[in-house]
Amino acid sequence: MVKKKACIFISGKGSNLKNLIIKSREYNFPISIDFIVSNNKNAKGIEYAKKNSIPHLIINTGKRDFENKLINELKIRKISLICLAGYMKILSKKFLEKFGKKIINIHPSLLPKFKGLNTFLKVLETKEIKTGCTVHYVNEKLDSGKIIVKKSFYIEKNDSVESLRLKTQNLEYKAFPEALIKIFRYN
Ligand code: GRF
Repeated sequence: MVKKKACIFISGKGSNLKNLIIKSREYNFPISIDFIVSNNKNAKGIEYAKKNSIPHLIINTGKRDFENKLINELKIRKISLICLAGYMKILSKKFLEKFGKKIINIHPSLLPKFKGLNTFLKVLETKEIKTGCTVHYVNEKLDSGKIIVKKSFYIEKNDSVESLRLKTQNLEYKAFPEALIKIFRYN
């Protein structure tokens, strides 16, 4: 099957990236990972790019022209989808328009609840019954685009920020691949 060329944006650990690299090698999986972008030169996830010989780029989001350069790289590499996997910067409206193709993000809460940072703490403080993760399209507003896949679990009495993080991440490893299959099978 002809796979769509995807670029994964990261800022940190890159465990979703690692999971997507493994999935992308399955014959029927709809994407290949052809490029990795990080705004943090110390992101642990860059190791996965190196280990798997996937080209990567460290961007300096403080530099004026960085978005134009990035758009160029994405064009040269014929990238038709961007997956934000723990990417901690907001993409400008201009960037979204210039790229003009699908961009999706994974967020560790059941959107529209708990947008932004510190989701696990907020979930505990508001005594939610359930939590989980959401894969959604990216638009110019934070964590607000159309939802593609949501997965949830029940919170237990002794759950902490750390245990919620672990449980949520384990769900993310299922939700992200599922969202990609859904996007390319039905669109
Ligand atoms: C994930 O929990 C994701 O929901 C959030 O950032 C985290 C990234 O984790 N946006 P990793 O870098 O993929 O390990």
